[in-house]
Amino acid sequence: MSFSFGTTLRVQIFGQSHAPSIGCVVEGLPAGIHVDMEALQRFMDRRAPGRTPWSTPRKEADVPHVLCGLNAQGDTCGAPVTMVIENTNTRSKDYDRLQRVPRPGHADYSAWAKWGADHDVRGGGFFSARLTAPLCMAGGIALQILESRGVCIAAHVAQVGTVQDEPFDALNNSIEAQRHLSEQMATLRALPSDAFPTLNADAGSQMIELIDTTRRALDSIGGVVECVATGMPAGVGGPRYDGLQGAVAHVVFGIPAVKGLEFGEGFGVAELCGSQNNDPYEMREGQPVPSTNHAGGSLGGITTGAPVLFRMAVKPTPSICAPQASVDLSSMDATTLEVHGRHDPCVAARAVPIAEAAMALALLDSWLSHPSGKTPR
Ligand SMILES: Cc1cc2nc3c(=O)[nH]c(=O)nc-3n(C[C@H](O)[C@H](O)[C@H](O)COP(=O)(O)O)c2cc1C
Repeated sequence: MSFSFGTTLRVQIFGQSHAPSIGCVVEGLPAGIHVDMEALQRFMDRRAPGRTPWSTPRKEADVPHVLCGLNAQGDTCGAPVTMVIENTNTRSKDYDRLQRVPRPGHADYSAWAKWGADHDVRGGGFFSARLTAPLCMAGGIALQILESRGVCIAAHVAQVGTVQDEPFDALNNSIEAQRHLSEQMATLRALPSDAFPTLNADAGSQMIELIDTTRRALDSIGGVVECVATGMPAGVGGPRYDGLQGAVAHVVFGIPAVKGLEFGEGFGVAELCGSQNNDPYEMREGQPVPSTNHAGGSLGGITTGAPVLFRMAVKPTPSICAPQASVDLSSMDATTLEVHGRHDPCVAARAVPIAEAAMALALLDSWLSHPSGKTPR
């Protein structure tokens, strides 16, 4: 069982939803990097629960406490950076029945099949999305380091149900498309931390309405998060098992509720001919550059210099108030379950900074582990 990932940048997350605290240990960060704790807190606030109608009412401040790894100036000192967040708002009573009656769609039954009654079901235990807070702490530092290297990362809710946001202009790599993409990223950066993160405000309002209608019908709904990184130099990553897509996928599939991941054109490639999907090259400022970006920023596992683009599908939240069939594992009798307590009616909006954190950690690790021979380490 592993709670860690990464090659040079090794990240371990720990904790449970209703344990006293959750946290992360980040090894392999270059020394001498100043960590801006205020910027890190602003990033954490975008994921924190309890502040918006589309998230769980469980209120948590999610303030990172650095235990070690920084020097007196707040710079990385070469030691692993260890950070914790206290869990302050737990209501374990809500989970008493779930110890025996597994929620359809959650990990209660599969965890029982593995560990029996020893599994800590309170708040979802270590399957809980609470553990994406430490992922965001580690990812927030990676974002700051990448930013100092000229890499910008942004994500938005691309879809909830059938309502779609305007997509990132990242499948084209023309100068105009690059300009448009950086405007889109600036729009997202300018949003307040409790805003619903879409590019098109009308699409956002329709999504919020749909989430609210679904919640009032005692149900939940799925969505898609689209994430882009600009400024990655060509030549980072490696073939096959050192590939960039694999590095991103490893972190992204560790995010609870993620059921699908596609890069660039993704599953759309099935409908294209090579002449449409290939990204032709042109010379810009003395360098070959792909003029389109159907590849989503990497070929053969190695960056092309075009934006790295992925879309991840998140399933509807498993815990819903509507009655569902289940089994009482103590008697093996059929029963009906209505899940009450505090749950996100749609996880897509809170998954936006989590996608950015995953992208940042995968890109920085690939850069540190498999740099281009031509770019600075
Ligand atoms: C940001 C976020 C918030 C989530 N909130 C909830 C929640 O409130 N209730 C719930 O049952 N599942 C929630 N989930 C999903 C479950 O954690 C997840 O479905 C469960 O651990 C089973 O894992 P799997 O869906 O990856 O198979 C959330 C996921 C994310 C990413």
